[in-house]
This record gives sequence, C-alpha cells and structure tokens, in this order.
Amino acid sequence: MPQNPLRLKRIHHVRFVVGNARQAAFFYRKGFGFSQLAYSGLETGNRDRACYVMGQGTARFVLTTPYRSTSGDAAHLHAHGDGIVDIAFQVEDADAAFHAALARGAEPASPPTTLSDDHGAVRHSAIRTYGDTIHSFYALGDYIGPFLPGYVERPVPGEDVGLLRVDHMVGNVELGRMEYWADWYSRVLGFERYISFDDTDISTEYSALMSIVMSDNSFAIKFPLNEPAAGKRKSQIDEYLDFYGGPGVQHVALLTQDIARTVTALRANGIEFLDVPDAYYDLLPQRIGPIDEAMEMIRGLRILVDRDEEGYLLQLFSRPVEDRPTVFYEIIQRKGSRGFGKGNFRALFEAIEREQALRGNL
Ligand code: FE2
Repeated sequence: MPQNPLRLKRIHHVRFVVGNARQAAFFYRKGFGFSQLAYSGLETGNRDRACYVMGQGTARFVLTTPYRSTSGDAAHLHAHGDGIVDIAFQVEDADAAFHAALARGAEPASPPTTLSDDHGAVRHSAIRTYGDTIHSFYALGDYIGPFLPGYVERPVPGEDVGLLRVDHMVGNVELGRMEYWADWYSRVLGFERYISFDDTDISTEYSALMSIVMSDNSFAIKFPLNEPAAGKRKSQIDEYLDFYGGPGVQHVALLTQDIARTVTALRANGIEFLDVPDAYYDLLPQRIGPIDEAMEMIRGLRILVDRDEEGYLLQLFSRPVEDRPTVFYEIIQRKGSRGFGKGNFRALFEAIEREQALRGNL
C-alpha cells in the first residue's frame, strides 16, 4: 500500500460550525490568543454564511455561522451544536485525491470544483468521515489571496500564547465502530496504527474507553479514535455521543514549546481547565522521575506529566468550550515523548467524572 496515496501535505484548516461566529472569533482571540486573519460574509458578497479565519502558529481555524436555516451548515448546527464539520487537508491535486479516496471506499461529500476570485483559483473536493464530519481537499496551485477564494483580509491581532500547531485531533465514534474507522483511515488515507489503548489501560471505577491512534507516515497528522467501553456508568464518550448527537471530533490538541507560558496566559485569559486532584501531584515525582520543569510550577498550573521510553510530555485539558459537554482542547508540550499521556488517563478520567456527576450525567 502506498504510504500517502492521496498525497496529503498537511492539515490546511479546521472548520467549525457555531451558533455565533462573531462571538466565537472574539472568544478564540481573547481566550486562546488567536489572531483574526480573514473574513467572508455579507460584506464580501457571501450571502450564505459568515466565516472568520483565526490563526496562531500554523494552526488555522475557520469559524462559520450560516445566515439561514436551510443550508447543510444549519443542519449540522441543529444536530450537533457548535462543533467541527471539516478537517481540511492541503493536497497536491484535489481531483486525484478525491478519485483515489473513492476508489479506496470513501463516500463523496463534494465533487471536485474550482473556487476562484481576483487572487486566483483553488481546486476543492471533499469526502465523508465519521458522523457528519468531512475531510476537504484543497489544491492551492499558485493562489495568492489571504486564505481561500472568497475571503478578504480582515486582521484583528490577538495576543499569542505560544500555540504552534495542531498536534492531534481525536474522534469519538460509537461502541463497536472504532475498528471500522481505524481500518477506514488505513485503507482510504494510508495511515498506520501508531498505538492503541484498551479498557485495561483506560478505565476507572465507572467508565472505560478504547482508543486507536492513526497517523500518517511522517507522524505530522495524528487522529486518535475513541469508542466507549462497558463500565458501571455512562462513560465520557457516551456523554459526548449523547450530546453531540453521534460521532464527531472530541478534542483538538494544540502544541506549545513552553507550556508554563501558554497555560499561565490561557488561565489569565479565563480559559477553564479540568481540575486535577492534589493526590496526583503527591504521587507525580515517583511516577515520572526527574524533569526539567519545577514541580511547584507543574502543581501550581495543574499540568499533567507522563513519561514513556522516548521521553516525557506535559499536557492539560480544557473544560468543554460550549454548553453541550462536547468539544474541548488539550494543550501539549512534548519533550521526546510521542505518546498521548496514557499514564494520565486514570487521573484525568476521575477528574472528568467528577464534572460529569455535577452535570447529572454519570
Ligand atoms: Fe489528546
């Protein structure tokens, strides 16, 4: 099997459909330190939807709100609330990627078409993945506009908090469907199984989940897939599936090179993170051994640490960023480790479950 059959280059952007993109843009700018870069909407001749392009490091988020209730975006919003509709890739050839994906068993979402404006033309196509989520393919050619055709530059700088790029994006799928989607990513995109976790790795008294991490051959694009496992009570994956109305993106992990700086700034901006019990920090030094960072800083900012054979990583999880307990963020710094914080799962899940219990969903 070819290593990169669709010739994916990178994640070009992540598109969200939200109830109020103008307010979401403010939240991502003031809360997460993104800068607003470009805009498309009524003032630019877009009669269908308002779109704000937010950037930090190489990460690009597009926040979209449909103007009317009849569009596909409106149906997505109605079904799922605020959420991620598209993990879009830049490719060499959007036609070839689309046809190769279909030949490998993908379902079409949007056939190849040309998008153009005064700055040139871009070729676009899209396929369906889990739930109502899609993967777009954009071939940029020699397009020179600020983002994609139809967008105008509308810069509103944010105060950068040191986020560099998307590290990984996790999909939640239904019980019994994780293997199917792991196989789908292998068959359609040529991804490999990087690592998997079963319910003996990830379980608490109440809930369990299973996870397979799919990665491209350069390890630049990583998509873990979760499914719930049987537990005494409703797992956090069940809660997500219930409130999202089916499978979808659970969290986006954003990479930093200085988690102390990033988390200090995010906390000062009012971003809320999952609480970590004191007991976690009492046990931490013996669990992970020596690290470069001061233990007081780690404990003060409630950062999680995990070690594997290759090194260690520091990570922290936000609370859901919308009222439905669905999409949240992870902030991650890697110091040699290419893992996902397996040793933190139990401590983390117990923290999540305390909040689930507060919501009456455990
Ligand atoms: Fe993660």
